[in-house]
Amino acid sequence: MKVQTNLVFTAKDIAKAVQRGDVIIVIDVLRCCSTIVTALANAAEGVIPIKTVKEARVLHKKHPEFILAGERKGIKLKGFDLGNSPLEFSPQKVKGKHIILTTTSGTKAVVSSKKAKYVFTGAFLNAEATAKAALKIAIWKETGISIISAGTDDHFSLEDFICAGAIAKSLPADNIEHSDAVLAALLAFQQARQSLERAIQSGCHARYLISQGFEEDVKFCSQLNFFNLVPFLNGETVVPLNGSILFC
Ligand code: MLT
Repeated sequence: MKVQTNLVFTAKDIAKAVQRGDVIIVIDVLRCCSTIVTALANAAEGVIPIKTVKEARVLHKKHPEFILAGERKGIKLKGFDLGNSPLEFSPQKVKGKHIILTTTSGTKAVVSSKKAKYVFTGAFLNAEATAKAALKIAIWKETGISIISAGTDDHFSLEDFICAGAIAKSLPADNIEHSDAVLAALLAFQQARQSLERAIQSGCHARYLISQGFEEDVKFCSQLNFFNLVPFLNGETVVPLNGSILFC
């Protein structure tokens, strides 16, 4: 049986993907999912994705030992320890710590996928590792893979679309049946991959981030397969995937 892949852009379609029992990969290249994988690679204990700023503050009151991080309009929130720049999440700051993270679109998409049994977060930084982990589970569970593009503030986002293509590229063609949207993303990735950073920089959110002084973030997030780490939503917390988690 071939694994069916889908690319999802709206909250309604996230709910359908969850209902189908698909393995979910949430993508938000700029910058939420790049931040999550970087924090975990730098030995954070886990990242707790939260929809609203208010909920994040309430949780932090209960757990003042956790790091409070996030943004709105790309900018660190008042009273927060960190913003949403992956470069801020250094080992010195995050090692051994839990991080409460709220972002404009990325953490919302993760929280909206929560009812699915298998939710991963992907970015260019960990595209191949994420694709391989999702495929293993989809074959094992005889289910599809839905790639959720978090977008930016409910808008289509170029970098997430191209990243969906990078993930699709890492799935072996003979095992897979891609939807037309995934095939289009694959074509976009093949076109963009020679100058990935330039393609990403041309997108609307990248241009905004650069205008706000986050050019280094855009560069960092454009690196393909920089980490061999797969963030996995285990209950309320995103943690690095290891085999034993899956069999609980
Ligand atoms: C989001 O979740 O919309 C993004 O991560 C925004 C950002 O670049 O900080």
